[in-house]
Amino acid sequence: VPHEKPLGLPRFLATASRNPIEIWGQRAYREPVVRADWLRVPTIVLSDPAGIRHCLVENAANYALQPLRQRVLRPFLRDGLLTAEGELWRRTRRALSPVFAPRNVGRLAAPMAERSQRFAEDLARLDGAVTDVSTQMTLLTYDILQATLFTNDITGRPDEFAHAMERFLHRMGRVDPLDILDAPAFLPRIWRLMGRRANQYFRRIIAETRDRRRALLARDPAAAPQDLLTLLLESEALSDSEIDDNIITFIGAGHETTARALGWTLYLLSQAPAERALVEAELDALLPGLPDPGDWPNALPRTRAAFEEAMRLYPPAPSLNRTALADDRVCGMPVPAGASLLVLPWLVHRHETLWDQPGHFRPERFLPGRRERIDRFAYLPFGAGPRVCIGASFAMQEGVIALASLLRHLRFDFAGERHPMPVQKITVQPDRGLPMRVGRR
Ligand code: HEM
Repeated sequence: VPHEKPLGLPRFLATASRNPIEIWGQRAYREPVVRADWLRVPTIVLSDPAGIRHCLVENAANYALQPLRQRVLRPFLRDGLLTAEGELWRRTRRALSPVFAPRNVGRLAAPMAERSQRFAEDLARLDGAVTDVSTQMTLLTYDILQATLFTNDITGRPDEFAHAMERFLHRMGRVDPLDILDAPAFLPRIWRLMGRRANQYFRRIIAETRDRRRALLARDPAAAPQDLLTLLLESEALSDSEIDDNIITFIGAGHETTARALGWTLYLLSQAPAERALVEAELDALLPGLPDPGDWPNALPRTRAAFEEAMRLYPPAPSLNRTALADDRVCGMPVPAGASLLVLPWLVHRHETLWDQPGHFRPERFLPGRRERIDRFAYLPFGAGPRVCIGASFAMQEGVIALASLLRHLRFDFAGERHPMPVQKITVQPDRGLPMRVGRR
């Protein structure tokens, strides 16, 4: 429940570091644009769809990535697409777009389904026991990423790689006070130092894996698996270190986000038995006739709608942060050069003027026939404009395939003492995980 009045400075600072999505008062959920200046930086919080289109699409060149976001993420993701800017970003985006073309993403449906089905079989062995479904979904999306990025063919021990990656992701995105204050670069940042060993190990394994695959492609191209790594090497548009940075970026941007979306979907369905029954009926009726998992996202509208509605209520990436390069005006409000522009899917997706009963889980909003009526700029789980998520169709396909594989045979019932509260760490996470009872249905 959003608070009525703006927070005073001490509460604001405490809330900002504990859970930034709680900062917003009722005005932010009602008004198209709100000005909230923090630490003397003019900050524009924009929720109006036409205004969002103006800033993220029509006048996108005027809005650079926010410097704080860059200071925090770039040391980890370096020249990867998420943190690249200017000419490097344009060249990388051009090189990566064909890699994520529908034909290539469609080919990854089979390994996604194979992994998800195997994972569902493992979960079935729990036989009614309670498990943290949030952690389970992290394991599942990690499994899928390994299969679609490298076909599980990495050098070194997979468990060591997984641990190094976990440590790396844990430190990535942690905001250091020195970064907030833009202190000189030579002063040591604690999270960066703590992530250093994992970072070095993780990068070494990725570089070795890339070299081994390159040698295989030179020797016997037909024997090389058709995964994202092969596609990246075949495109020949990026240097070796740029390839490594982008692989790391795909892991950083695509693993945790999809896991949170899946976890929240399973939780919300457990709270809405009628919706869950509709999804189960759809799977029972249609899935046996759909042998190609590439067809599932379009052929299973209810499953897909549940996933999309969960991302409306709990957008995995809750904030898009930009900085204005020159003066602008949006929804009648001046945006001075240097201002922070925040487009917060968290707020836009719960905005009183944009959604009917915004706090309710109603997947039918996203069924064919109704989905087309949703303003493109009122629903932004993957962002919008030139920097829209390059992995959006990969993630949608993965989400539907994973949900269909899990819910076809299993049922998830919430078993916590109290319901989870959403907390913004880079993604929107449940504060105490998602304890759920998992059994065959
Ligand atoms: C960018 C969300 C999955 C790779 C973005 C952005 C959002 C987003 C909101 C735009 C950020 C901005 O404008 O500041 C999500 C969500 C996902 C997901 C909610 C899952 C449910 C993936 C996957 C991959 C991926 C699976 C790759 C395999 C990227 C990359 C960018 C990006 C590389 C940067 C694009 C650019 O700046 O040109 N994502 N993403 N994402 N995403 Fe995703």
